[in-house]
Amino acid sequence: MESTVDQIKSKLDIVEFLSSYITLKKTGRNFKALCPFHQEKTASFVVSPDRQIWHCFGACQEGGDVIRFLMKWENITFYEALKELANKTGVKLVNVDFEDKTWKRKERLIEINNLASDFFSYILEKSKFGKKALDYLTKRKINPKTIKKFQLGYAPVSWDSLYNFLNKKKYLSGEILDSGLLVKSERGSYYDRFRGRVMFPIRDLRGNIIGFSGRLLDNKEKEAKYVNTPETLIYHKRETLYGIDLAKEAIKKEKNVFLVEGEFDMISPYQQGIENIVAIKGSAVTKEQLMLLKRYTNRITLTLDADMAGQEAAKRGIETAEGLDFETEVVSLDFAKDPDEAIRIDPVKFKQTIKKPIPIYDFIINLSQKKYPSDGPFDKKKIGEEVCLYLEKIRNPIVRSHYVKKLAALLDVSESSIESLIRRIKFKNNYKQLTVSFRTKGATADQRQLLVQKYLLSLIFQNEKPYQIAEKIFSTLEISDFSQPSHVKILEIFFKNKEKTFAIKDFVNNLSSEIRPVFDELYLYADVETSLSQENIDKLIYEVKKDSLKKKMSELLNNKKNDNNDFDKEVKKLNQRLKEVEKKLSAV
Ligand code: CTP
Ligand code: MN
Repeated sequence: MESTVDQIKSKLDIVEFLSSYITLKKTGRNFKALCPFHQEKTASFVVSPDRQIWHCFGACQEGGDVIRFLMKWENITFYEALKELANKTGVKLVNVDFEDKTWKRKERLIEINNLASDFFSYILEKSKFGKKALDYLTKRKINPKTIKKFQLGYAPVSWDSLYNFLNKKKYLSGEILDSGLLVKSERGSYYDRFRGRVMFPIRDLRGNIIGFSGRLLDNKEKEAKYVNTPETLIYHKRETLYGIDLAKEAIKKEKNVFLVEGEFDMISPYQQGIENIVAIKGSAVTKEQLMLLKRYTNRITLTLDADMAGQEAAKRGIETAEGLDFETEVVSLDFAKDPDEAIRIDPVKFKQTIKKPIPIYDFIINLSQKKYPSDGPFDKKKIGEEVCLYLEKIRNPIVRSHYVKKLAALLDVSESSIESLIRRIKFKNNYKQLTVSFRTKGATADQRQLLVQKYLLSLIFQNEKPYQIAEKIFSTLEISDFSQPSHVKILEIFFKNKEKTFAIKDFVNNLSSEIRPVFDELYLYADVETSLSQENIDKLIYEVKKDSLKKKMSELLNNKKNDNNDFDKEVKKLNQRLKEVEKKLSAV
């Protein structure tokens, strides 16, 4: 096994491979990118060509090799990733003797879903039981070509017809239950989840059917209009975008995606030739869904339902989208309740409307006004606070000034009061950022110390001339000032080889396998921090020294045996040194 993995990895260059997924920027020895696995504005995702690894220093705090990357990117298991890379590199996966159970189970679930979809399609298109459903779709202006394209079907009014069908195909009740197509009753018997519903297969990026959504033919009081596959091994609502498999190329080409709220709202525009469109399910768009879209575009046009719930959901989506640096615009439909209805009422008008989205800031102002309609000071305050939260984020001074003016006029207050509100929010944010620098949210003093030490060490190993910068740092510090045994080890090995010029490959070979990951992290760490001035670095050096001296002092005092001369001398010396350092610290 080991050798197959190595073979595959030797055929891939991590920088080249990752570049086909994300945009890497060279910074010194390494490459940097916005982490594709979490939401961020400053790049904390680092790739090292020397070590052929990646690491995210942001929220993920995770890293690995090409295989690990692909696993995370496609949300697949180790074996699936290996299979894909083996294909790509032409390496044969021979003698792979371990079984990837998760992967096999996923494949089975997809098979079951495929069969179920065939069954639903047959019922809709070929059987008399589907007549009513076919009429329903025709009434909703869905044409036969679209039915085929979206693999629409019909689940008959029956408790067990799908169950029986799948049973005949030799699938076990347990597996069908896992697919979400069956429900287990309290008495322990199984029945079909989808009954008397138009069926929408939900497909992933690659077109695999991962779940279903089923709509009643006519709205009934007692039953939910839509029933959906619950969370399963392969269906995760948060990560799913309906229509993504059909829309992804168009999204890339158009450099924009229309985001709508329901299956029909995706299908109807698509049928009209608007192909860069995907749907979420009612509630707010998730970070996961936006991350997926980010692969294809930087622009989103929210085309949501006209009701207040839809609008509020849009706003929550906007915050997440802003965090991911999307350009977000909003289409407000004023002549229909949702895109599907708008198309049925007036397709030409719909197409015109979606061509003229309003900037999110106008949308936010409008929404806030609707929420706090009175002319009193407290409603104005609320509007100001809500809107300024967004205005603070605008970088472009002209755009920003435009909205400051607009908001001031709207609230009938001075522009300077809006500006001051924005400043207040900005200070709050800056302070927040400061306290999370070194990523020490709620960290103890010791944890912060460790991060400072890590930062200094990484400055050394990041440098083109590590021994040169080390000399500077170690004119103040000693190895024993570092509190982490693994860091001490690394430094010892580093200084032992001082005569030689620093060669990363040789150096890593000198490290034991336990220490290597510690080193890898150091090797990449400094890159991601905002670069610091020399004074700031000096400050950190003195901080480490001070902390270390204090610790040495308390150790000494705790171990006091008798008051001999040596002891007094030692305490005096440490005290003296501590004073010096504190003085220097206050000077920088
Ligand atoms: N939805 C759901 N479960 C429900 C209601 C809605 O999963 N009980 C999801 C569906 O994906 C639906 C979307 O939320 O498409 C938006 O809901 P809604 O606006 O109520 O429905 P429409 O999309 O307008 O559906 P239709 O046009 O078929 O009435
Ligand atoms: Mn609708």
